[in-house]
Amino acid sequence: MRIALLGGTGDIGQALALRWARDTDHEILIGSRDPEKARQKADEYETELDSVGVEREVKGFANEMAADRSDVVVLAVPAFHVQDTVEAVADRIEDADVLVSPAVGMDRDEDGFHYKPPKAGSVTELVADAAPEDVPVVGAFHNLSADRLANLDVELGLDTLVVGDDGDAVETVAQLAEQIEGLRALKAGRVANAAEVESMTPLLINIAMENEGMHDVGVTFE
Ligand SMILES: NC(=O)c1ccc[n+]([C@@H]2O[C@H](COP(=O)([O-])OP(=O)(O)OC[C@H]3O[C@@H](n4cnc5c(N)ncnc54)[C@H](OP(=O)(O)O)[C@@H]3O)[C@@H](O)[C@H]2O)c1
Repeated sequence: MRIALLGGTGDIGQALALRWARDTDHEILIGSRDPEKARQKADEYETELDSVGVEREVKGFANEMAADRSDVVVLAVPAFHVQDTVEAVADRIEDADVLVSPAVGMDRDEDGFHYKPPKAGSVTELVADAAPEDVPVVGAFHNLSADRLANLDVELGLDTLVVGDDGDAVETVAQLAEQIEGLRALKAGRVANAAEVESMTPLLINIAMENEGMHDVGVTFE
């Protein structure tokens, strides 16, 4: 399978790229608004993988080209830019592709982080509204710490929650999540349930900020 990480030059994109490149045989495509930046980052990820004994090719492209060439497209961009990014690649996504949203709308004041969903109700719903009609949208990876994922020495032991309306697409993304060593995927409902999942992220960041040694806090459900 080919996985495109749009905005894969940033934190969560890098983290997922490194884990999938290390733990699976899927082809990893880094997307960026600037193809040269994507190629540079892809080279850096290859070097990092090489340093842990993993020889893998990671390719960099403009977001549009990365989306065009992939089966699964992860929107690893800040929440406020997700809609623009979907619109930029909309005519490159086929019906069979899966669009994955890990993005969370948040703002920060003197009290900490707060959940700030878009008018659609959640970023995942915003993506579903912006995506071409027959492209399935799945929300996943919201509650993971990019730093923890990007540190390949760390054993994860974490859950990620997956929401979506298309059962096959949810299954595809859940399997991709579980192919990352130490990550368990739990289904958490439909696209309409995404706000419940996304709203956990500011909670986790506040816990991380308020408690020593919890910088990379994540969740497991028992
Ligand atoms: N960081 C985490 O721990 C974490 C964990 C789970 C989920 N998330 C979610 O994942 C998303 C990405 O988070 P992140 O921390 O990886 O973000 P980030 O590092 O700040 O940005 C990711 C990438 O987004 C692209 N970007 C920036 N401004 C843009 C714009 N105006 N239009 C289109 N693309 C733009 C940039 O790529 P180019 O300049 O190369 O185009 C950038 O490298 C967020 O929505 C966040 O809520 C983050």
